[in-house]
Order: sequence, then C-alpha cells, then structure tokens
Amino acid sequence: MKILAISGSLRVSSSNTAILRSIAKLAPTNIQLSIYDGLENLPHFNPELDNDNVISSVQDWRDLIRESDGIIFCTPEYAHGVPGVLKNGLDWIVSSGEFMNKPTAVISASPSIDGGIRANNSLVQTLRVMMAKTTEERILCIPAVSAKVSGDEVTDPLTKQSLISLLDNLVRSILSRGDEAV
Ligand code: FNR
Repeated sequence: MKILAISGSLRVSSSNTAILRSIAKLAPTNIQLSIYDGLENLPHFNPELDNDNVISSVQDWRDLIRESDGIIFCTPEYAHGVPGVLKNGLDWIVSSGEFMNKPTAVISASPSIDGGIRANNSLVQTLRVMMAKTTEERILCIPAVSAKVSGDEVTDPLTKQSLISLLDNLVRSILSRGDEAV
C-alpha cells in the first residue's frame, strides 16, 4: 500500500514535515509512506500551461498522486490560509483529476491554540471540490505544536494516538475501495 505524505512547509526544520516523518515511523511495515519533496519545483500555476504537454515536474506530481493509494497532508497556516506553495501544487491537479475518490487525511499544526484550523478548513474544501475522500475522522488540528514535537518525534502521547487513529482510518478507507461516504 502506497501513501504519499505532503507537507505544506518548505522549512528544513518544519514541525509539519516532522509530524509526517513521525507518522512514517508509526506506520505498519506493509505501508510504503513517502514524503513528497517536489512542491517548490512546480511552476506557478497558469491555465495556459495546463495542456497535453505539461512540464515534467507537473506530470511527475500528477503521476505520484495517481499511483498512491492514499494521501496525508500536514500543513501550517499562513495568514489564515493554506500556504501558497501547497495551493499552487493543488491547482495543477484540478483539471487532471488525480484526487477523484482518493482517500485523504488532512492535518494542520501550529504553535497557536487553534492548530491552524482555518488553513485546515480551506484545504478540506479545496480537496472536496476535487472529489477527494476526506471524512471527519481523518481531519486533525494540532495546536501548540512546539511543545509536542521534538526532532522527528511526536512526543505528546495524545497527539501520537490521534495520528495512529487517523492513519488507521485512512488505511481502512483504502481497503474499503471507496465505499465510504465523502
Ligand atoms: C505564520 N504562522 C501562523 N500560524 C497560525 O496559526 N496562523 C497563521 O495565520 C499564521 N500565519 C503565518 C504567516 C507566516 C508568513 C509565517 C511564516 C508563519 C506561524 C506558523 O504556524 C509557524 O511558523 C509554524 O511553525 C510553521 O510550520 P512549520 O514550518 O514549522 O511546519
């Protein structure tokens, strides 16, 4: 089973990317969880470039999503929204449709007390309009993240448990082959 993890932060020491690395360590061995590192190499979205000859970085991004059984996002909130680099990547997928029926989990993490809920809500709306499968059990906001992550490790037991439940729900959605409601 292949799961693609996508961080909304390009920072080397990103807490959101650290959470995805931590999920990779928690995942059972039959799950191949890889973290996408190409967001910053995608060109700015332009509908005039969205044709049969899209540039290779965009084609690779689309192929990777299509070949993945499920997707996990973990993103910060910037100015009450989804970071531009992540939204840009998603805009390239609108016309090609790789998110259609794709089991997807959405996490946001922030040092603030609301855990980036506005970015989380906005990302969920974008994914739902692209027909991704995102149920409430796979949506998580992690507040006060600075106190819960150390290096690549989620140190807070409750947060770790929430991540295990979210991953388990995603795996069950993949195995149910899209029978669940969106
Ligand atoms: C932020 N941050 C932030 N946090 C938040 O909860 N709501 C917000 O609207 C914003 N806005 C915002 C804008 C900009 C430009 C920056 C750089 C930061 C703080 C942000 O959540 C914090 O830096 C996180 O640690 C970023 O996540 P990573 O990079 O650690 O994954």
